[in-house]
Amino acid sequence: MTPERAFRSIVILTGAGISAESGLGTFRDKDGLWTKYDLSEVATPEGFARNPVLVHDFYNARRRNLLEAQPNAAHAALAELERLWDGDFLLVTQNVDNLHERAGSRRLRHMHGELLKIRCDDCGYVTEWEHDLDLATTCPACGRSARLRPHVVWFGEMPLHMEEIHGALQSCDVFVSIGTSGQVYPAAGFVAEVRRAGRAHTVELNLDPSDGHSLFAERVYGPATEIVPDFVARLFAGA
Ligand code: OAD
Repeated sequence: MTPERAFRSIVILTGAGISAESGLGTFRDKDGLWTKYDLSEVATPEGFARNPVLVHDFYNARRRNLLEAQPNAAHAALAELERLWDGDFLLVTQNVDNLHERAGSRRLRHMHGELLKIRCDDCGYVTEWEHDLDLATTCPACGRSARLRPHVVWFGEMPLHMEEIHGALQSCDVFVSIGTSGQVYPAAGFVAEVRRAGRAHTVELNLDPSDGHSLFAERVYGPATEIVPDFVARLFAGA
């Protein structure tokens, strides 16, 4: 199916807000994770070097929480959009959860890594991991212990897949940002990058206006489980 409007190429950016109604906490809302934890202690390489046990505990709790969570109607609507869309499609998520793929999304890039993967700091081996991680866990590839870490991007580290993402942003003709506060770069700069390329329609779907809300041509505010399915339906109805 082709949308009525002349959109051939779509890039969607998601943040923690799309998973909020699945029971995963956001970072900067009233009860957000960064109101309870010091970001510099649990989400930086320096924090991990200082206190790896604290960092493992933080991500172990988040991993357990994720294993109990289910994708919601907003994840499902984006999977359906991908299935029906016959042009270029890329879903970029800042989320480390796997709710998009469990809802059926496939053309998906995790720019901040994946909570259900771990990586060895020594040999670089990356593997899927659903258990708690601690200092005694040995790397399945090189056998060393105390060198494994969550395969997530911490502050001060390079986000993943950026070349592909920048290419898609330059050439898309619709860019949709969902459930992100627009406070963390490089994702917070995507809407400006799309506008500089000069051709795309830009849409923000969020509970509250993000930091960069005025840069979006179209803005809809409400819970993701309502406004994302509505948006997808409108896109195909040409409204
Ligand atoms: P934030 O916690 O900064 O922002 C969440 C956004 O979701 C806010 O703008 C809320 O208004 C919105 N929101 C909350 N509930 C919602 C709902 N039910 N429906 C729709 N929107 C809702 O999360 P992010 O912007 O994703 O990075 O944060 C970006 C990055 O900062 C994260 O990837 C993480 C964090 O530190 C790293 O850890 C590297």
